[in-house]
Amino acid sequence: IKIFIDTANIEEIKAAYELGVISGVTTNPSLIAKEGRDFAQVVKEITAIVDGPVSAEAVSVNAPEMIKEARQLAAIHPNVVVKLPMTGEGLKAVKTLSAEGIKTNVTLVFSANQALLAALAGATYVSPFVGRLDDVGQEGMELVQDIMTIYENYGFATEVIAASIRNPLHVTQAALYGADIATIPYSVIMQMQKHPLTDKGIEKFLADWEKVPK
Ligand code: E4P
Repeated sequence: IKIFIDTANIEEIKAAYELGVISGVTTNPSLIAKEGRDFAQVVKEITAIVDGPVSAEAVSVNAPEMIKEARQLAAIHPNVVVKLPMTGEGLKAVKTLSAEGIKTNVTLVFSANQALLAALAGATYVSPFVGRLDDVGQEGMELVQDIMTIYENYGFATEVIAASIRNPLHVTQAALYGADIATIPYSVIMQMQKHPLTDKGIEKFLADWEKVPK
């Protein structure tokens, strides 16, 4: 599994990237809006920090507009991946863009059939939203499992990004089920490092070290 950070905040990206465990970034219009800054500028800054895929979302609703927007986003940096919504128009755009060599991430995926269509259209990545399914009383991680099985059955090259991750358990499950990537908020990346027994163990070792004659 690879870990991407799910944020548009430059400071969070820098701090997480320094840990050496982050290999990409995903953003969405809500995350960009939180920063209150120019979209293209934020994307450009992210690509200068992280040497890996950076997802930037197109906001058009019809395929020709999506394609136009995607080309502009892809021109920012070779690592830019264009996020497109899981709609018929989005699929049409994916088909055209993948033929042009522009990488795509089909987002807002909530069913196995949607993921199947995204792979058939030639998406580079597909993003099932685990937490949002949990929110409506459906086991989000089951969707990740189903997509992995379907993609393995047919050898699809599309990579699965477990998205809408809300807690460390989601990450463990995504890894157990073989998701290619988990895109994780900064707060959860920080939580993943922590265990009370690690802290307690360090405290004890340091206290005992004081007793060693020097
Ligand atoms: C995925 O790429 C999205 O940016 C993100 O994971 C959505 O998460 P949320 O449901 O917590 O908003």
